[in-house]
Amino acid sequence: MIRGGVLIMVLWSAGAIAQQAPLPVASVASPGKVLAVSLRVDRDGRPEYRIERNQKVIVNWSRLGFILADAPKFERNFAVGQVKQRSFDDTWEQPWGERRYVRNHGTEMRATLDEKTGRKLIVVFRVFDDGVGFRYEFPDQPQLKQVNIVEELTEFDIAEPAAAWWIPGGEWNRYEYLYNKTPLAELSQAHTPVTLKLASGVHMAIHEAALVDYAGMWLRRVEGQRLKAVLSPSSSGPRVARTAPFVTPWRTLQIAADAPGLYLASDLILNLNEPNRLGDVSWVHPFKYVGIWWGMHLGTQTWASGPKHGATTAETKRYIDFAAANGFRGVLVEGWNKGWDGDWFATGDEFSFTEPYPDFDIVALSAYAKKKGVHLIGHHETSANIANYEKQLGPALDLYQKLGIDAVKTGYVADAGGVQARGADGRIHFEWHDGQVQSRHHLHVVEEAAKRHIAVNPHEPIKDTGLRRTYPNWVSREGARGMEYNAWGDPPNPPEHECNLVFTRMLGGPMDFTPGVLSLTGASGKRIQSTIAKQLALYVTLYSPIQMAADLPENYAKFVKPFQFIRDVPVDWADTRVLNGEVGDYVTFAREDRNSDDWYLGAITDEQPRSLTVPLGFLDAGRKYTATIYRDGADAGFAGNPASVEIETRSVSSTDTLTVQLAPGGGQAIRFAARGKK
Ligand code: NOJ
Ligand code: CA
Repeated sequence: MIRGGVLIMVLWSAGAIAQQAPLPVASVASPGKVLAVSLRVDRDGRPEYRIERNQKVIVNWSRLGFILADAPKFERNFAVGQVKQRSFDDTWEQPWGERRYVRNHGTEMRATLDEKTGRKLIVVFRVFDDGVGFRYEFPDQPQLKQVNIVEELTEFDIAEPAAAWWIPGGEWNRYEYLYNKTPLAELSQAHTPVTLKLASGVHMAIHEAALVDYAGMWLRRVEGQRLKAVLSPSSSGPRVARTAPFVTPWRTLQIAADAPGLYLASDLILNLNEPNRLGDVSWVHPFKYVGIWWGMHLGTQTWASGPKHGATTAETKRYIDFAAANGFRGVLVEGWNKGWDGDWFATGDEFSFTEPYPDFDIVALSAYAKKKGVHLIGHHETSANIANYEKQLGPALDLYQKLGIDAVKTGYVADAGGVQARGADGRIHFEWHDGQVQSRHHLHVVEEAAKRHIAVNPHEPIKDTGLRRTYPNWVSREGARGMEYNAWGDPPNPPEHECNLVFTRMLGGPMDFTPGVLSLTGASGKRIQSTIAKQLALYVTLYSPIQMAADLPENYAKFVKPFQFIRDVPVDWADTRVLNGEVGDYVTFAREDRNSDDWYLGAITDEQPRSLTVPLGFLDAGRKYTATIYRDGADAGFAGNPASVEIETRSVSSTDTLTVQLAPGGGQAIRFAARGKK
């Protein structure tokens, strides 16, 4: 339902600006009047916006604009022209997700910025009680057809002293860094989401939504706490080249009273994306999967052909049998196709996406999987040679479609700036993983896959900006340090890592983290800094509609009891609650299964032990549940006895309160199985 109407007064007088008279301002407030955004031009005609929360400024006047390659910049000499407001309140259903229904309730202010020269730029703000999104529209106008953007002048000047959680932007390892926690005044250049805790306790995250045919935004600190957008580079000079009319991605600010509220404010990202464009998507299935994968990261198997080749017919059958016996829908097989021999990081042009190695009988294995009710998951490692990949994309996806392989994990292993793309000039150009070329490439793959009813899960991806709403077959992605760093990372992921991820990377959307390594052992016997109970809790705390059980089948055979939780836990949710949490320290989630009345709880902590009080008010009142609790044993800890786990079954109801004890680096996972009828 869309209701028209002006929610709050527009204080705008078009007259000439008197010398020191206050500048005219156009303002819009969120439905509950929690947040308000104001827009004005300064005395030089530079457009700027400001955000208040409960009447207190939290983002100071911050600039808007662009530098263009072959036209005068959009920066000064503007006046605010036509301003329109509307309110909106609609609820839409997700095909899969963290909750079934999402409410989109906010107010919009759409303002035309008139430049003295006659050019126009439009800025649109959407203001929710828990966040703000704004984007630019480049209208069709005779003076500016081809828009070549060198730099975006958007700024975010944070008004209160703040702590910041961030990873470096523009560095060689893409998004795969450990999180820094620093005063915001010490941030250099960061990827988004950047998460902030203001002195008043207000939590904020700056990110973007609907990154389509545009360069990803990094944030560079200019001075004090003033951050400025930096667009990911392009080999062709301008970082973005578009033909008007077009819109930019939304610049988003999630704003909440505390860390749980910040996480829940992420619906804003989805709300700012366009609705599903694929029509009936009943062919997109959330699923759990196993795969020929961890062995390669441990070094006991290889992607390459030879005596240690992982992707053999016999090994794949073993995984299919294991998946079928334990209720996993998918079996990922990496290293199945020709091109892995030698230095594959550097030889992406050698990958064939249609030719299996001779010891991998893809046709027989697909049929065998089908017989067992299991699906192979395809794998396309490209080493970021998208020129080679795009050339083969059609036939590669056709092959999968023919064999009933309805999900593909893609990969773009190469240093940042090392994506090899074929330019319009026919030559290879080096691009960034989050530049405009790669933003187009990802959507191209997702659209081609959708035509064949295939879901896509990119690793070394572009960041998540909520495009899963528009393209529900874009089910997950990597884009942070995942489990693989616990095999070979130096250092491996520290105990706080997942507590950081929840409130940073995960604000963008699902991550294919690949949890569940119950053996807690990386390559060469290196210890994983976790407990078994925490590995289980990750299925509830790190959302993805596809979740891997990443350990080897022979390891799961040693941990049959805790493995039961991985067998039970769903991947698609009717509802999600964040019961407590602090960025980087701990968090507790409760999620309701979309296909039953059961609830699941996951709690994780950093290196500190914790005792959390958790009221079970989320359960249906008056109903009994059988809680199966997987908790850290008394001697458990990432440095203590990580395998120590206690499993208890008891009857609970919504009036009960649990004390959730977490060991250092530990966690807790609970299944609440509903009894009787609703
Ligand atoms: C990096 C991915 O994150 C990992 O999951 C995969 O096994 C390798 N690339 C090979 O494609
Ligand atoms: Ca990776």
